[in-house]
Amino acid sequence: MRDLLFATSACAGLLGLLAALPSTGHAADTAEGQRLYQMHCIACHGATGESLIPNTPNFSRGEGLMQADIGIMASIKAGKNAMPAFAGVLRDQQILDVIAYLRTFQR
Ligand code: HEC
Repeated sequence: MRDLLFATSACAGLLGLLAALPSTGHAADTAEGQRLYQMHCIACHGATGESLIPNTPNFSRGEGLMQADIGIMASIKAGKNAMPAFAGVLRDQQILDVIAYLRTFQR
């Protein structure tokens, strides 16, 4: 009985430790990406990734997305022509979440 109690509390301790670890490096979260997109990007890029603004990539055709996440992240952080820079506005993990969401527009 004491062993069982010990095992249970050790388990709870381990779970607590896991919960306390920083959540960096988790898989990209498209739901969070969608939330951030609606807050920061939708005005220019549109609800379906098809922008009405000239010279803006059409994400549903994969424009601007045919590069590795790291390249897209660089553009979003630094800004590009009419697009403002998001460095200091969004954290890297948030940008990765948004990129995962951008890729869902592609048909
Ligand atoms: C003020 C309007 C505006 C906002 C807000 C905006 N964008 Fe853009 N975005 C643009 C324009 C314009 C371009 C085309 C830039 C160019 O290639 O000249 C662009 C280009 C891009 C590209 C292609 C980059 C590349 O490497 O070619 C991506 C990806 C992108 N935007 C994602 C986002 C995301 C994600 C957000 C929100 C966090 C966002 N944009 C917010 C206007 C905007």
